[in-house]
Amino acid sequence: MTLRTKFTDIMGIDNPIVSAPMGGSAGGALAAAIANGGGLGLIGGGRSDFEWIRSQIECATSHSPKPWGIGFLSWALLSETLHHALEFGPSAVMLSFGDPRAFAPVVRASEAKLIVQVVNLDEARVAVDVGADVIVAQGTEAGGHGGTRSTLPFVPAVVDLVSPTPVLAAGGIADGRGLAAALSLGAAGALVGTTSAAASSTLLEVLGGRPATPGGHFETSFSTNGAAVRSTLRPIRRRGPHIVRRNRVAICGSCPSGPARALI
Ligand SMILES: Cc1cc2nc3c(=O)[nH]c(=O)nc-3n(C[C@H](O)[C@H](O)[C@H](O)COP(=O)(O)O)c2cc1C
Repeated sequence: MTLRTKFTDIMGIDNPIVSAPMGGSAGGALAAAIANGGGLGLIGGGRSDFEWIRSQIECATSHSPKPWGIGFLSWALLSETLHHALEFGPSAVMLSFGDPRAFAPVVRASEAKLIVQVVNLDEARVAVDVGADVIVAQGTEAGGHGGTRSTLPFVPAVVDLVSPTPVLAAGGIADGRGLAAALSLGAAGALVGTTSAAASSTLLEVLGGRPATPGGHFETSFSTNGAAVRSTLRPIRRRGPHIVRRNRVAICGSCPSGPARALI
């Protein structure tokens, strides 16, 4: 089964699901699993550790012949790393959290589609100005870094502002109902992070429930029966823990059909 939107047409994929480029935890196995399910998997380029990035790109491309992408934190991205990554021929590069203006022209000069993640309307305007092919509207329900506006009102505000640029909704989307809601809001798909972090192909799992960064940005724990993943992200945001039930998306993380298929 496929679900066609403007986003799937742009990317040449079957389903409007993207796995978030969670730095250091969204590796090549997750990207390949999402791709094999018909979605788009983004490797988490994080803070530009290129040797790690190279190994994950090789993992993704050796496990799936389908399109893959990579995401970077704009504030931490090195121009050299972006150029190296582009040499591997990603179908998409996503820029988040920081000013994309220095890097957008480089991506646009390549074959990769430019995806820009935004957390407020000013950032959405910048994303349009730099020529983003796709804009991710990230609501405050999202795991990881982010803004303060909730997904439900933020997504349609961005859709209206940036039309006809396709928008992906992000923040709290964890199953097919969430995807349906995102489409109802005018989005052309959804980007999921916390839920795909629960997939068996995520690199977070190898941490075995220990803090990913002791005393640092986030902690992740898995229940003893594998039924839940809980991330306490960036204490600075003073939010409660994120809990993801181990639904079909998570369970299918390393299945041949992939988690993207499970959302449809
Ligand atoms: C553990 C974790 C790490 C993340 N790291 C990044 C990152 O390095 N770069 C990025 O663009 N987004 C990152 N994000 C945010 C995602 O891009 C996305 O906005 C978010 O996960 C969507 O909301 P959800 O977690 O409710 O699905 C991260 C999210 C999580 C849960």
